[in-house]
Amino acid sequence: MSKQILIAYATRYGATADTAIRIKDTIEGENCRVELLDLRKTKSKNWPSPDNYDGIIISSGIKMGKWTKQTRSYLERHLDHLRDNPDKFSIFVSCGTAAEKENIDKAQKEYLSDVFDKYNLPAIHSKAFSGIFDFSKNSKFGFLEKSLMKSGAKNDMDPDLGWDFDGVNDFRDFTRIEQFAIEFVKRISA
Ligand SMILES: Cc1cc2nc3c(=O)[nH]c(=O)nc-3n(C[C@H](O)[C@H](O)[C@H](O)COP(=O)(O)O)c2cc1C
Repeated sequence: MSKQILIAYATRYGATADTAIRIKDTIEGENCRVELLDLRKTKSKNWPSPDNYDGIIISSGIKMGKWTKQTRSYLERHLDHLRDNPDKFSIFVSCGTAAEKENIDKAQKEYLSDVFDKYNLPAIHSKAFSGIFDFSKNSKFGFLEKSLMKSGAKNDMDPDLGWDFDGVNDFRDFTRIEQFAIEFVKRISA
C-alpha cells in the first residue's frame, strides 16, 4: 500500500514552498501519496496531526537566523511525537548560508542541530538547503530587505557564485534536494 506523507512548510519569500513541491514530485514517484500543508495559509487549528501519516517532512525558510514562527509552532506542538518517532520525520530549511558549499555545515548546525538541542530532541534526518536571493523587480523581498541582502552578498559572499544583482539568484541544488527526498522514503519504508 502506498505511504501517506505530509510536507508541512512555511515560507516567507517562496523558496521553501517551491522546494517542497519538488520533494513532493520526487516522493510521489516512489509510491507515496503526498499532502502539502502551507502552515502560514492554514489556520493552526486545522493543521493535521502526524498520527494520520506514515512520514512527515517539516520545513522552514530562514530569516535573521530564525525559522518561521508557524514551523516553530508545528514543531513545538508535536515534540512528544518527534521524540517517540524520530524516524518518521525529516526536516529541511532553506537559507542563504548554504549557498556557499563551505558553509553548509555551519547552516546545518545553526538552523537544525542547535534547534534540536534547544528542544531536547534526538538527531533527526535533516538538511540545510540553499535558498534564493531574488533581487529582481518581482522579488518578494521588501525594499530594505533587498538592499540589506544585496550588500551582504556583495561584501561577504563568494563572488564566484555568479551573482545577478538585478535578477533571481537561485542557488538550490536539486540533486541534494532529490537525494534528501529519496533518503526520507527509504527511512520510513525500512
Ligand atoms: C531579510 C532577510 C534575512 C535573511 N536572513 C538570513 C539568515 O539569517 N541566514 C541565512 O542563511 N539566510 C538568510 N536569508 C536568506 C533566506 O534564507 C533565503 O532567501 C531563503 O530562500 C528564504 O526562504 P523562503 O523563501 O522560503 O522564505 C535572509 C533573507 C532575507 C530577505
